[in-house]
Amino acid sequence: MCGIVGILGKEAVAPQVVEALRRLEYRGYDSAGVATLENGLLARRRAEGKLKNLEIRLSSEPLEGLIGIGHTRWATHGKPNETNAHPHATEKLAVVHNGIIENFRELKAELEADGYVFKTQTDTEIVAQLVTRELDRGKKPVAAIAHCLPRLRGAFALAFLFQGEEDLLIGARNGPPLAVGVGDGEMYLGSDAVALAPFTNLIAYLEEGDWVVLNRKGATFYDKANVQVERRARRVAAGSMLVDKGNHRHFMAKEIHEQPEVVAHTLTQYLDMAAGTLRQPFEPGVEWKGLSRLSVSACGTAYYAGLTAKYWFERLARLPVEIDVASEFRYREAPMPENGLALFISQSGETADTLACLKYAKQERQTILSVVNMPTSTIARESDAVAPTLAGPEIGVASTKAFTCQLTTLACLALAAARARGTLSAEDEIRHVQHLIALPGLLAKALELEPEIERLARELSKASDVLYLGRGTSFPLALEGALKLKEISYIHAEGYAAGELKHGPIALIDEDMPVIVVAPHDALFEKTASNMQEVAARGGRIILITDAKGAAECGITPEATIIMPEMDPLFAPIVYALPIQMIAYQTAVFMGKDVDQPRNLAKSVTVE
Ligand code: F6R
Repeated sequence: MCGIVGILGKEAVAPQVVEALRRLEYRGYDSAGVATLENGLLARRRAEGKLKNLEIRLSSEPLEGLIGIGHTRWATHGKPNETNAHPHATEKLAVVHNGIIENFRELKAELEADGYVFKTQTDTEIVAQLVTRELDRGKKPVAAIAHCLPRLRGAFALAFLFQGEEDLLIGARNGPPLAVGVGDGEMYLGSDAVALAPFTNLIAYLEEGDWVVLNRKGATFYDKANVQVERRARRVAAGSMLVDKGNHRHFMAKEIHEQPEVVAHTLTQYLDMAAGTLRQPFEPGVEWKGLSRLSVSACGTAYYAGLTAKYWFERLARLPVEIDVASEFRYREAPMPENGLALFISQSGETADTLACLKYAKQERQTILSVVNMPTSTIARESDAVAPTLAGPEIGVASTKAFTCQLTTLACLALAAARARGTLSAEDEIRHVQHLIALPGLLAKALELEPEIERLARELSKASDVLYLGRGTSFPLALEGALKLKEISYIHAEGYAAGELKHGPIALIDEDMPVIVVAPHDALFEKTASNMQEVAARGGRIILITDAKGAAECGITPEATIIMPEMDPLFAPIVYALPIQMIAYQTAVFMGKDVDQPRNLAKSVTVE
């Protein structure tokens, strides 16, 4: 989940490498580094922490050189300090790496036995030394790489720079993505097309197991059997402007506030707004009718979007749904039925566990549908059908607008499935579509609750533990609320199905424990109200997120009530997500946390 870059340029490349790394910082910010060739000799600058530390280093110790590689790190092996920062170098080469070399212990022992000495705790240094050994044995760089790649097990994207080789970069991919950018007498490597967008939009992608040799005239691709292959470059619209925060203090705040707009944008993809129906024909076209089962896999927030959609697909389309977190599903060896559809949800479209499930589902002959925010991503490219979310680039590490756009897309897919399976009448379709069309307005109203939530957040920031409860489609929101709070404020939080409370977690309730209850006035409201009584009877501090009717009928006096606008309960999670996000955001801001780049996290998780 690090970001890697390589540039063969006409002018000094270090500033360009840094510019590309800025666009990759979402992949990790434990350290950053650049290596170039100065008069044929390897030169490096590295710094612990965010990219700005590297920029400070480069301003006092600039790097020359028309060829270079760069890296922004999310630490896997070895502490996030300067010694372990990439590029890793020997006297003959420098390398940057995204991923994990699983057999690094075995290779290290072998290299140490041959007299190679290691200076870092990283798995990446093993790659540097392994290739160096082949160079020491007299191989040329291309032959050395061809020899070494088959020895590496794990998931990796790599870029190599060689001492004395002013017109050569080599890249390799086994798992995490790697893009080649074609410029005018310049060539690029990058973890994604967005990183290369300031320089070129002519992009070719390495396929699984590929490696590529670049010089300023072009690229030569090889597959994992070292057979030369063609990978065509195409124009991609990655958006060449670096997204900014506008008037907001953080990207997360901007992204929370963008939700009315991006949800509307996503709806236009699936709905005929004028007719008030689903688009006809509905894209993506999926054979919903004969489906035996829908199997959903995703991670984190995207998984909670899937969990919410399970209620919709089952209720609206009478389609059996199985759902699991991708990191579990990938190793379960679960049987998958004939005529099954496998659905993968991912903002980045690069999450390693989700991608592994996709591959498993392919082997099990499932039709593959993905809901992704990055249309050029690996998951999108590997799918039979893609339902895009039009959230736009999400920079804040904690997912907000991508989540509500995933929910919006999944709601439309559930309706399309219901129509195709004959479980939705034309009148019901129009009624549900009207509720969807109302969402952007409701989201805008929910944003008006921010001042109230800010006051509440001041109180929450004093808590050391917070419990979130919800039933039905509010249950995944309780999980999402707890995840959001813990990942950016570092306050311990847990989400539970409200009915599970009495099976254990109720033991935690005391006067210090805030309990956030997500409960629109829906068919299950009375049940949740009973659970609130149970909390109140034990002195628990309830913060209730509901509508006016729910507030009137809850039967208790909560410590605080967030009154949401009235709406149809079915798609209410899309709107109730906002107070959940704002609570986490405001609490973390009040506590002075790094909201956009919380510790230990990265935006795109390309390692398992
Ligand atoms: C939490 C968050 C993560 C991601 C998860 C999956 O705020 O953003 O839990 O949802 O890492 O990422 P994608 O959607 O890129 O597959």
